[in-house]
Amino acid sequence: MAITLQHLRQLKQQGQRFACITAYDASFSWAVAQAGIEVLLVGDSLGMVMQGQASTLPVTLEDMRYHTACVVRANAHSLIMSDLPFMSYGDERQAMESSAQLMRAGAHIVKLEGGAWLAPIISSLRRNGIPVCAHMGLTPQSVHVFGGYRVQGRGEAAAQQLLDEARALETAGAELLLLECVPQDLARTVTQTLNIPVIGIGAGPATDAQVLVMHDLLGIDRGLKPARFVKNFLTGQASIEAAFRAYAEAVRAGQFPGEEHSFS
Ligand code: KIV
Repeated sequence: MAITLQHLRQLKQQGQRFACITAYDASFSWAVAQAGIEVLLVGDSLGMVMQGQASTLPVTLEDMRYHTACVVRANAHSLIMSDLPFMSYGDERQAMESSAQLMRAGAHIVKLEGGAWLAPIISSLRRNGIPVCAHMGLTPQSVHVFGGYRVQGRGEAAAQQLLDEARALETAGAELLLLECVPQDLARTVTQTLNIPVIGIGAGPATDAQVLVMHDLLGIDRGLKPARFVKNFLTGQASIEAAFRAYAEAVRAGQFPGEEHSFS
């Protein structure tokens, strides 16, 4: 069965959690499908894990188009979400042209990073048949504005602002929200407030879904210290597909992430 946005909305209404993994090529995309993972993210994290860049900023639209096309050929099950890379959605026209390339490559939904200022862009994409996931909290394309990869939404004022902006993006037509590195209480409030499914990473256990970068989930860290929210699911498993299944089952059962993977 091919997963759709309608299906994800139903899961939220029924209180059932779902799983998302990044993948960037056909072989891993096939394994993601075999494991029954609901959402596959072609993330601009490919800049780091595939290209060895220090951040996601050097990733181009052509990189995203190429990897999206590779992934799509091997996966008829998951909803395929593709990242709009840095500087590819500065205004409505540019966002439309960039998203069209990813949708023509086979993406089902595009993801972009930011807050309330994206509302007109999201509305115009949706009017033109392009569903959008808004990525809030720690948005890696703004790492130099934040001065590093830091937890966002800490403190009452920042939390209220994030909640208000998330509401604004839902009203503008966002179909999904992805929350990265925010305190777990804030993620819970946002998840309970919004009608659209909320996917978390470093956002605690209360979101409707979880995402992990595939390499993190498989313990491939190139000697770097893994982030707090990462867990190696390959340990004790006989195959990569089994690791993907173990991750999805842990997410659906509410066993991952735990307190030790969350920020307070
Ligand atoms: O690019 C990516 O892989 C992402 C996830 C970290 C959420 O945006």
